Amino acid sequence: MQVDELPIPDSVKSVLAKTGYDSLYPPQEDAIKAGALEGKNIVLASPTASGKTLIAEMVILKTILEKGGKALYLTPLRALASEKYEDFQKYTSIEKTPGRKVRVAMTSGDYDSSDIYLANFDIVISTNEKADSVLRHRSPWIADVSVVIADEIHLITEADRGPTLEVVLTRLLKLNPRIQIIALSATIKNAVEIGEWLKAIPITTEWRPVPLREGVYHNGEIQFKDGASRTIPHSDTNPIFDTALDVLREGGQVLIFAETRRMAVEMGRKASALLRRHLPKPDRRGLENIAQRILSTGERTRLGEALAEQVLNGVAFHHAGLTGGHRKIIEDSFKAGRLKILSATPTLAAGVNLPARTVIVSSYERYEPGYGRYPISVLEYKQFCGRAGRPKYDKFGEAILIARTEDEQDYLMKNYVLAEPERIWSKLGAEKVLRPHVLATIATRFANSEEGLMRFFEKTFYAFQYDPKMIRSKLGDILSFLNREQMVEFDGQDLKATKFGRRVSELYIDPVSAVVLRDGLYTRAKSITDVSFLHLISRTPDIAPKLYPRRGEDEMLDLFAKEHQDEFMCEVPEYYGDTNGVTYEEFLSEVKCARVLYEWINETSEDAILEVHKVEPGDILRMVDSAKWLLHATHQLAELFGHKDLLGATYELQVRCAKGVKSELVPLVELEGVGRLRARAIHNAGYRSLKDLRHASITNLMSIPLIGPTLAKKIKEQVGGLIKAEEWETLKSKSTQTTEQSLLTDYKEEEEF
Ligand SMILES: Nc1ncnc2c1ncn2[C@@H]1O[C@H](COP(=O)(O)OP(=O)(O)OP(=O)(O)O)[C@@H](O)[C@H]1O
Ligand SMILES: [Mg+2]
Repeated sequence: MQVDELPIPDSVKSVLAKTGYDSLYPPQEDAIKAGALEGKNIVLASPTASGKTLIAEMVILKTILEKGGKALYLTPLRALASEKYEDFQKYTSIEKTPGRKVRVAMTSGDYDSSDIYLANFDIVISTNEKADSVLRHRSPWIADVSVVIADEIHLITEADRGPTLEVVLTRLLKLNPRIQIIALSATIKNAVEIGEWLKAIPITTEWRPVPLREGVYHNGEIQFKDGASRTIPHSDTNPIFDTALDVLREGGQVLIFAETRRMAVEMGRKASALLRRHLPKPDRRGLENIAQRILSTGERTRLGEALAEQVLNGVAFHHAGLTGGHRKIIEDSFKAGRLKILSATPTLAAGVNLPARTVIVSSYERYEPGYGRYPISVLEYKQFCGRAGRPKYDKFGEAILIARTEDEQDYLMKNYVLAEPERIWSKLGAEKVLRPHVLATIATRFANSEEGLMRFFEKTFYAFQYDPKMIRSKLGDILSFLNREQMVEFDGQDLKATKFGRRVSELYIDPVSAVVLRDGLYTRAKSITDVSFLHLISRTPDIAPKLYPRRGEDEMLDLFAKEHQDEFMCEVPEYYGDTNGVTYEEFLSEVKCARVLYEWINETSEDAILEVHKVEPGDILRMVDSAKWLLHATHQLAELFGHKDLLGATYELQVRCAKGVKSELVPLVELEGVGRLRARAIHNAGYRSLKDLRHASITNLMSIPLIGPTLAKKIKEQVGGLIKAEEWETLKSKSTQTTEQSLLTDYKEEEEF
């Protein structure tokens, strides 16, 4: 099927032609034939890189240009939302109406906002959580949405984030039963079932743009699914590296999936030692640049240094303990072919598009505390395989499992290579997961009675897949809880959210968190300090990630707790036994979160936090993100419940937490380009306020460590100071030899702020 024969607007055709698409991939043809362009709902389950996005693009553009309305594109991750946002930029040259071009927006984060401005956009790309929060704010523009794309819908089966997507789709369908839904998925077994739920036509394909060869390595030989085999030269290392080196010799890149972060780093380290001997000189220079960029992005930590060292040899590790800035550098360098081997944790498989000729699945097992070791799902294994084969670069992709015995080889062949991915199951049934959605349904008036609530949840995938009766009893329990905690109230048959309930729903926090915060604010403490609030938010189920005391850390945390004993806004549990269901051990876990945050806002370096508490930078920043959010919620609830005396403190803490600074730096970190390190340097140089900076000369600013000419100029522009044109010219020319260096230091301190 040719693109120019399709029933889509000419303007879209010409954009596609410019992009180099002339004919459709088979799964795209299937979707068109099934009626995607005629408004039919579709569930398309098809392998990675089989071109699912283009279906969404064509449906969206046809709808908004010919029928009007808006498109909402849902993705599970912020990084994927950015990727799609880039993909859609090519359409912004098209005129929707004379003089008015197609507008694309991306939204994520800030869950306490209805984003009214989005009414002006035609295509809104959003994370699932953000869309959920926007629905809770009852944003009027949602009513204009005529087509929804649910990307990566197989993630419905993920325990923590899947239910949100499920509820968002249920709500959108309830608001507008005629909305068109295009659901895109990896290959799954029950696309038909999802299709029935969404009243959509299911399409399943196995087509891949780059053919995939799946195989199992054992004892120097890879046995492929199609019966072929390949010998791998033995060396004194291990099968993973033997295979990797073999691929490298043939000009391919390798992606190794490791079981844990620690193993990803370790595997990278070993691979890096091996490659040191094989790396050609010209490659080295480029790699030195990448390593340098890593070291100058964000704070310097031993984790970043370990990464930079591996990069020098064309190898890297990739896991969620790295900062977003570092992960991005690694992803880009791997895509550009600079890095040859990447050793990653499984999170990479569900993230941004990062293909390699060969994927090595180093372990098919996982460890979960309390469960022990268990084999991964076929679905997860197939996700790994999905990363094999770079379109345009590789003629085929390979996915290799590693077996230690012949028995294991048979087992892996049968249970992974030849196996079908599992059905996906709704995870909405867990009370913890269901609770916030029940409150939101009532608060947004999606349901006005207990019966209405039941009817709403009977429309979910959970109810569709299981027995609707099962959800009824759960809803009853949750309603009693919400009623007892005064978030909802009954007025005869009428079920309503209280002011408190509505605010909690909008704040996008777990109702249990809201109870913790509300009670803490009433209980207070003998002396209310930063620690009081930081511990309070650390008690909520919304703080993430949860931190656990490591062996030998108890004593230190216990000491910290004793030092601050008058500052806790709750009863401290007895050393033995528990108080209100919280054991002392759990309490120490809360104290650990509070302590890490406390150090963060007192300018302890990321490296020191890593050394002392073993909390990696990526986790610190994620925790800071959730803490910031919870402090916002604390502030809002303090306002709602009339704790006027706590408003100032909770507000300031939010800012300090966002930036990781002591109070005195708060005015300085407001400047763009100034993070906590630079703010401290500016403060040390004697500038305490924006007013001080206004009077500073640019030459003096440039003499401050970490500040180059570009940033100095930017600061002056922000504080409203004057720069004489001649002064700037001479400074610029004088600093040419150091320009590269200053560009490096001008790199944003940490993009996740
Ligand atoms: N008809 C086509 N002709 C040429 N290239 C295409 C065509 N359709 C899609 N592509 C290219 O194929 C690549 C993969 O497409 P896409 O990202 O849509 O995959 P996907 O099916 O969504 O995979 P994933 O499961 O990873 O999300 C993109 O680089 C896209 O530009
Ligand atoms: Mg996709």
